[in-house]
Amino acid sequence: MLILGVETSCDETGVALYEGGGPARPGRLLAHAVHSQAALHEPYGGVVPELASREHLRRLVPLVRRVLASAGRDLAELQAVAYTQGPGLVGALLAGAAFAHGLAFALGVPAIGVHHMEGHLLSPLLAARAPEFPFVALLVSGGHTQLVRVAAPGEYELLGETLDDAAGEAFDKTAQLLGLGYPGGPALSRLAESGTPGRYRLPRPMIASDDLDFSFSGLKTAVLQLLRAGGDAPQHRADVARAFVDAVVDVLVAKCVAALERTGLARLVVAGGVGANRQLREALDRCAAQRGFDVFYPEPALCTDNGAMIAFAAALRLAREGTPRDATRAFSVYPRWALERAG
Ligand code: KG4
Ligand code: ZN
Repeated sequence: MLILGVETSCDETGVALYEGGGPARPGRLLAHAVHSQAALHEPYGGVVPELASREHLRRLVPLVRRVLASAGRDLAELQAVAYTQGPGLVGALLAGAAFAHGLAFALGVPAIGVHHMEGHLLSPLLAARAPEFPFVALLVSGGHTQLVRVAAPGEYELLGETLDDAAGEAFDKTAQLLGLGYPGGPALSRLAESGTPGRYRLPRPMIASDDLDFSFSGLKTAVLQLLRAGGDAPQHRADVARAFVDAVVDVLVAKCVAALERTGLARLVVAGGVGANRQLREALDRCAAQRGFDVFYPEPALCTDNGAMIAFAAALRLAREGTPRDATRAFSVYPRWALERAG
């Protein structure tokens, strides 16, 4: 079953072609392409929703042509069109949903709406070293920070989540304070590498709370105070970046350990943009070796938003539920959408 995946929930236009397998044959990713709008939004210090929607519309057709050409496949061979139905920016979601439904209608194939975070949490299954079910997923993106117990595809139990800023949002806002541009996560991570460990110590919000929730919004105030007190010297900025990254990583690792203990599981999946973070991966790998659990990550290119995870989540759903009969062709998008109610 040949599935086109379309991702437009925020500021990346992602398109992919996935061939679903059967009981005897695993599926495979044939091609994927992402257009990042980072440069478009950079001057504004964050995503401008209207610009994002328009850019998605401009990029979708060329990206679809590109993935079809690189896989040597034809539009007429598509058997389903999967798209991100939420959560995300409403205009950006509508751009992808309208495109996917239009194409699916023209081809006479179903359009399948996918939950963006379901895509992220299943993406490590596309890696060479894939986890078995059940597992705990740490979802850390620009909009979400969640711990989820994943019993099987489509069976998700939310264990905890952020009460305010998402981890990626905290990275981006702190990077902004440090003048690192948008999105600042990767740049902040690089700056932290030259910081002195232990030079400053920031609070570890909620690390000892008796739940699996997070809170990151206070950290940026702590960073601001350090920056005001210490001036603009490059080493000082690096030391502050280091203190921030160490605080976030410590909290994320501690809550992952707590989630594994609470569920009695020994498999952890890490997905979403912040899952690309080097310090987080090193700390989790160290902790896993010490405590005897396994950690699984998506391939680096599939950590941030992409169409492959959307096509793949749809392939698993179709394998599970069969092809839906899509009579009305009406569609909605869900800017806010609880993961447990996906699928
Ligand atoms: O999953 P994603 O691409 O988009 C959302 O669904 O939000 O995540 C984007 C977020 C941004 O906040 C970005 O700064 C952060 O992931 N990010 C990183 C790194 N790479 C991306 N944060 C820290 N370190 C990184 N290496
Ligand atoms: Zn995402």
